[in-house]
Amino acid sequence: AFAQNEITLQADKGKDIINKNIYGHFAEHLGHCIYGGMYVGEGNTKIPNKDGVRLDVINALKKLKVPVLRWPGGCFADTYHWKDGIGPKDKRPSMLNVWWGNVKEDNSFGTNEFLNMCEVLGAEPYLSGNVGSGTPQELSDWVKYTIHPNGSSPMPELRAQNGRQNPWHVKYWGIGNEAWGCGGNMRPEYYANIYRQYVTFMTNGDPKEKIFRIASGASDNDYNWTEVLMRDIPHNMLDAVGVHHYSVINWNKKSSATAFNEEEYYTTMQRALEMETLVTRHAAVMDKYDPNKKVSIAVDEWGGWYDVEPGTNGAFLFQQNTMRDAMIAGTSLNIFNNHCDRVKMANLAQIVNVLQAVILTNEEKMLLTPTYHVMEMYNVHQDATMLPLTVKSNDYKMGKEKLSAISASASKDKNGLTHISLVNIDASKEQDITINVSGANYSAVSGRILASDKLQNYNSFENPEKIKPMPFNGATLSGTTLKLKLPPFSVVVLEVK
Ligand code: AHR
Repeated sequence: AFAQNEITLQADKGKDIINKNIYGHFAEHLGHCIYGGMYVGEGNTKIPNKDGVRLDVINALKKLKVPVLRWPGGCFADTYHWKDGIGPKDKRPSMLNVWWGNVKEDNSFGTNEFLNMCEVLGAEPYLSGNVGSGTPQELSDWVKYTIHPNGSSPMPELRAQNGRQNPWHVKYWGIGNEAWGCGGNMRPEYYANIYRQYVTFMTNGDPKEKIFRIASGASDNDYNWTEVLMRDIPHNMLDAVGVHHYSVINWNKKSSATAFNEEEYYTTMQRALEMETLVTRHAAVMDKYDPNKKVSIAVDEWGGWYDVEPGTNGAFLFQQNTMRDAMIAGTSLNIFNNHCDRVKMANLAQIVNVLQAVILTNEEKMLLTPTYHVMEMYNVHQDATMLPLTVKSNDYKMGKEKLSAISASASKDKNGLTHISLVNIDASKEQDITINVSGANYSAVSGRILASDKLQNYNSFENPEKIKPMPFNGATLSGTTLKLKLPPFSVVVLEVK
């Protein structure tokens, strides 16, 4: 017989808020994320749009409740000169997108287009500044152009000339991207100095709305990077440090997004679950310098990374999205929820048509991926109070290796509803779960499930609704005990009250 998995939920011990920005996204000028994905051009008569942004994408992202959107990169950000992307479109210069296929970037989607789109989506923009090949002046001007009051300097005047009188709301600012790599190949000590210099000239527009400054953070387990930043940057100049971590099997041999075997799946999940160690250890380094947790972690790039779909441009990073990706999403979001005392933002890479996308488009067709559905099911956690839990899980084994089969997190929202999100990553075994609750008396449970009969299943343009959330009536409640069975590779979100 297979053992029970046991979860202990402390329903009256909630303290920390799950910042909604943990459910953030990332859009880069890369492949068909912006062009042909989100933005199809103002003149497009074939695909319904608002100011050139696809309406089907807008509606799907509104339903997802995207809280924050990072732009314009990634590596692209440190090559981007924002002034090339404003003003009359026929006057905007072009550039080569050197990181992503050397394609022509015509700058038709720029600052105004992005910030207006964020307003339509109800998402907070997160602008990634050019530190690698830009200047402090250029970034300082971007801040002034976007958020300084009218009449305060030439930049707001330029904004008005371009048809926008009032400042936008831009709270989140990245000071470069991957400064240790494509953002300038810097050493942490050097980057810390550069960071201090750039931030000095990034001035608040409205004194009541302080900008939130995010340092280009570590790659994976480069704990020294975090250490140097925390040590060398005064904390009144620093609001968050980034961390980037991709679930990639092997950078030289990533393997197919859809035609993978269980071993490859297992390795992907090992990489994904490393997030727990990464967040814990980066946070421990930060605790040394910032025990009161003033500075937060922004995991501003995460997700699965595989080979591109056959026949597509290798530099465009277009990949399908299977139940494996649902497993990455469900477990990663549980990790972020459980570490919400320090992790205050995370941005899935990337929102449309790139890497672990929530939306794929093909001309006038659009589909929602399994990852979309997980993020939509989990959005009940946004700004809710995290409820601590402990998980005693069966192992999911592969040879000598073992992983916990079950991952979970829970929260209580403003209306008093409790949500428990559960993932069973085991590729073949159903899992019995008992949840023992202390500190609450529930009387009703309902839920939704995302499951499919093959791990490799995905939504295609021919069959876009093959995988979608369904009602889940399999949980029973008696006294303070909840019981349910989780099918192999499935995600369940329970609502209890
Ligand atoms: O998301 C794709 C790329 O991955 C980003 O541009 C870069 O920051 C990271 O290396």
